[in-house]
Amino acid sequence: MELARPHKTNGLGVQVEDTQICVVMVGLPARGKSLIAQKAQRYLKWLSIDAQVFNVGTYRRTDNPQPTADFFDTSNAEGERMRRAAAEAAVADMLKWFRQGGIIAILDATNSTKERRRWIKQCCDAKGIETLFVESKCDDEDLIMSNILEVKTTSPDYKGLDPEKAAADFRDRIRNYEKVYQTIDEDENDLTYLKIMNVGKQVIINRIQDYLQSRVVYYLMNLHIKPRSIWLSRHGESEFNLHGQIGGDANLSARGELYAEKLPALVRESVGDDRPLTVWTSTLKRTIATARYLPGEYNQLQWKALDELDSGVCDCMTYSEIAEQYPEDFAARDEDKYNYRYRGGESYRDVVIRLEPIIMELERSENILIVTHQAVLRCIYAYFMKKTQEESPWMAVPLHTLIKLTPRAYGTEEKRYDAQIPAVSTWRGKGSVAKHEDPIETTEMLGGGKDGKTDVSKEKKEEGEVAVEGVEGH
Ligand code: ATP
Ligand code: F6P
Repeated sequence: MELARPHKTNGLGVQVEDTQICVVMVGLPARGKSLIAQKAQRYLKWLSIDAQVFNVGTYRRTDNPQPTADFFDTSNAEGERMRRAAAEAAVADMLKWFRQGGIIAILDATNSTKERRRWIKQCCDAKGIETLFVESKCDDEDLIMSNILEVKTTSPDYKGLDPEKAAADFRDRIRNYEKVYQTIDEDENDLTYLKIMNVGKQVIINRIQDYLQSRVVYYLMNLHIKPRSIWLSRHGESEFNLHGQIGGDANLSARGELYAEKLPALVRESVGDDRPLTVWTSTLKRTIATARYLPGEYNQLQWKALDELDSGVCDCMTYSEIAEQYPEDFAARDEDKYNYRYRGGESYRDVVIRLEPIIMELERSENILIVTHQAVLRCIYAYFMKKTQEESPWMAVPLHTLIKLTPRAYGTEEKRYDAQIPAVSTWRGKGSVAKHEDPIETTEMLGGGKDGKTDVSKEKKEEGEVAVEGVEGH
């Protein structure tokens, strides 16, 4: 029985109930397909677009968990049969997921022949699902080798095997794929596709049909894999923080000033070298003041999009005043904090939508330090650390703490630097009207230790519900 599809929006407020897209990854092994697939899923889910990765390698592993390179030789009939079966099982699950209302599926496999791509398109066409082929091509041998060493030798396919032997076998696997690989060419000009060459040095776009496809394409075009970090900090403690008031445009408190003075040293310690950063602040006094002692060679940019969540009629009030004057609103916010929109103001969902250009710009950029506000920081953090909408509005983000996020293959590494300057807590638990409440589960929420500077590598491999260990093609 087919379920009625619920009304859907594309996360930017546009209704897209008739659009379902299968993003079909194409490319030889070790071309970043799984990484691209997982990032796209994370981005879309952050925007509330239901997205799921279907990794064919995962399906193949149920029958053949540790194949050697000859399994991928097309003259190996049994290998061919099993690989075909794995692709069929993944596509069947994907179509089932679409029937239940999914919006964007990402089919992560090499999909390296025209015949295979045509078959996928036919399966999707028959169900009214659009296809967007995304080919990653790369002929930079050094990059391919470093990809193999970085992610492939630790893949479940090579569990327990000597890394050198694993790398050699993986090279042979690639050679087997190369024998039959067909890049997307003019014969396939009826397909909607994006070809990314050498990590975006060149891109070719063909037949992009609608808004949602163009959003996905624009995001994928902006990805790069240069090593870099992103630093996040709230402003120093403000006068409003001291009084438990929300919003406003207050000055820093005396302790907030101390944090501003200490921030350059904290940043230097965390950067570890002389590389310059670009600093983004909001347009509010407290973030600009916090960033004002950072070195002059750091470019500074103010973004309206980084201003704190607008609390509308409740601006400048304390939580206890809100609970007294707007008791229903106060309760409604606790009930669904992500979606609750202050009267005349914003919800967390609204903030995510206005932060979308910030995320896009962050993906294009290298080293950026963002000095912003509690709610905004939660939303940006949620994007990088894959936090759910239930969790993110309640996360504890302490004042006077610098967070360093370093994107790695399949996840983001986090380090925290505590300035050791006391500040009030602005965290509030459900139902509480306390002015300053100690956060519960702070360490779990940000994954940190109590020693102030802790390496807390997280989410080494982000996986969709179906794409467990999503690193291998079929
Ligand atoms: P397989 O077909 O074996 O699953 P894959 O194409 O999915 O391989 P990944 O597992 O995603 O490859 O490889 C991850 C590595 O690729 C990471 O080290 C990442 O830095 C790198 N990478 C990411 N994007 C690209 C790209 N566009 N071109 C080449 N390498 C990339
Ligand atoms: O209290 C500091 C502050 O940045 C306020 O300006 C803002 O309204 C609030 O945090 C956001 O946090 P929450 O969503 O938990 O109320």
